[in-house]
Amino acid sequence: MDLERLLTDRLAPAFATVAGGPVDPLVRRSPRADFQSDAALALARRLGRPPRDIAAAVLEHAELDDVCAAAEVSGPGFLNLTVADRTLATLVSGLAGDDRLGVPVAPAPETVVVDYSAPNVAKEMHVGHLRSTVIGDAAVRLLDWLGHRVVRVNHLGDWGTPFGMLIEHLVDLGEAEATQELSMGDLDSFYKAARVKFDADEAFRERSRQRVVALQGGDERTLRLWRLLVEQSERYFLTVYELLDVTLTRDDFRGESAYNDRLGGVVDELDRLGLLRASDGADCVFPSGFTGRDGEPLPLIVRKGDGGYGYPATDLAALRHRTDDLGATRLLYVVGLPQRQHFAMVFAVAEAAGWLRPPTRAVHLGFGSILGSDGRMLRSRAGGSVKLVGLLEEAVARATELARTKNPELDAEAAAEIGRAVGIGAIKYADLATDRARDYVLDWERMLSLDGNTAPYLQYAYSRIRSVFRRAGTDARPDAEILLTEPAERALAFELLGFAGVVAEMERSLEFHHLAGYLHRLASTFSAFYERCPVLRASGELRESRLVLADLTARTLRQGLHLLGIRTVERM
Ligand code: ARG
Repeated sequence: MDLERLLTDRLAPAFATVAGGPVDPLVRRSPRADFQSDAALALARRLGRPPRDIAAAVLEHAELDDVCAAAEVSGPGFLNLTVADRTLATLVSGLAGDDRLGVPVAPAPETVVVDYSAPNVAKEMHVGHLRSTVIGDAAVRLLDWLGHRVVRVNHLGDWGTPFGMLIEHLVDLGEAEATQELSMGDLDSFYKAARVKFDADEAFRERSRQRVVALQGGDERTLRLWRLLVEQSERYFLTVYELLDVTLTRDDFRGESAYNDRLGGVVDELDRLGLLRASDGADCVFPSGFTGRDGEPLPLIVRKGDGGYGYPATDLAALRHRTDDLGATRLLYVVGLPQRQHFAMVFAVAEAAGWLRPPTRAVHLGFGSILGSDGRMLRSRAGGSVKLVGLLEEAVARATELARTKNPELDAEAAAEIGRAVGIGAIKYADLATDRARDYVLDWERMLSLDGNTAPYLQYAYSRIRSVFRRAGTDARPDAEILLTEPAERALAFELLGFAGVVAEMERSLEFHHLAGYLHRLASTFSAFYERCPVLRASGELRESRLVLADLTARTLRQGLHLLGIRTVERM
């Protein structure tokens, strides 16, 4: 049980008695004592009583004796709470014997669909897909660990008019040649070559248009060629996922094409509900609350003038599949912020149609861009989009080089393992440690640095603790008595006990920079503890107790990093 919770549970009934109704005690860590509660201040106006009086009355009613060593009113009406060492020690012992580190399994597990990664067939994955993949995978790992039923959906862009020209280009190249090019991951040049022909050659354009018609009409040969394109791209994406160490598999691909036979139903149903309006030859829904720059209502186009369905209709069909067939009550869409309006409108239409209703909710987890050192969108030297694999390979190469320089005796295999964990970890951490909605600059020096809020710093902290145990020649004994006499020991105990609260907050917000910040604080607090409190040089019970604190720190770092999709290494 985390301490915030425990103190909240003790204070809430007392506040309720004093205020005559439920009150959140607003318990938080405090620089003045261990914790403070500021709720009396907010209540003062409502109750027409001085806040210090309220705080004093709350103290009279609250059962705190077995938890706190001191509880007092201070300043204008804060409650300052000092936790008893014994309480702290008991709680830390509880953590030591708990392989979930105090984090409970969700009491009411939900089915959660996480829509993430979602690159486009026969197109290079770009850095936006990197962010989606990294953030989405962290969400999946966290919700899964909490006991939810998580369905990963890789909403691949595998349908639409560009497939006409892509298939025609494939036909021109010959299947063998095209397959070769695509399986090498040369997606961009394939796409661009098709595009160039499409723009320059009227006959090619005409063939492409007819090919789209054949594809939509279900022509066997066309479908076979289309499948070839999709399979080659999927194979390539899987190599990226493997390198990136994410949990997406072949079974998670469910591209836009999977919803083809439901698109008509979506439009019919919208029509039946009276939500459909014709506009410029297209079938549209005008969800309330959305207006363009000119103040005119904005349409969500569900069927285009040529009778084709597009991206919005597909998302509506996918949403219905997720709620109706998969039984999901929480839908997450990890997609860049430029698509914010698209999702807001899709959700609004789904609500209006009754397809999305409480307790089911849909959330767009939008994110900002990755910028180059010039502060502009990340571009390759040639000015094109940066190839994702290149970026990952560079990270691994740089980290392997660093590991070698730091530790020349490392054999090649060990250096490669460290290089991979640290390089990929650094990329993921730099992403997850930033507020999701913000842009950030890709800065190799900073993200690979061994100090600061970085993956290497945390991985190094972990490996240092593991080396303590190698030198100790024993594991920590989880039933050892916990002694907390030094301030640095108490400080570490508080951080360790904070993990469950941070995870609970993460489950709600999925803002992973809070978890990153927590892990960084934990590692720094450990480092201060390790400087001040000898572990291996202590003896008897004190040594045993400190080994437990060290082990708990290592386990918490490892679990926290694991939730972010980052590996730890025993030595580095
Ligand atoms: N393929 C799209 C893109 O690259 C992302 C799809 C996101 N998911 C969705 N359900 N619309 O922009």
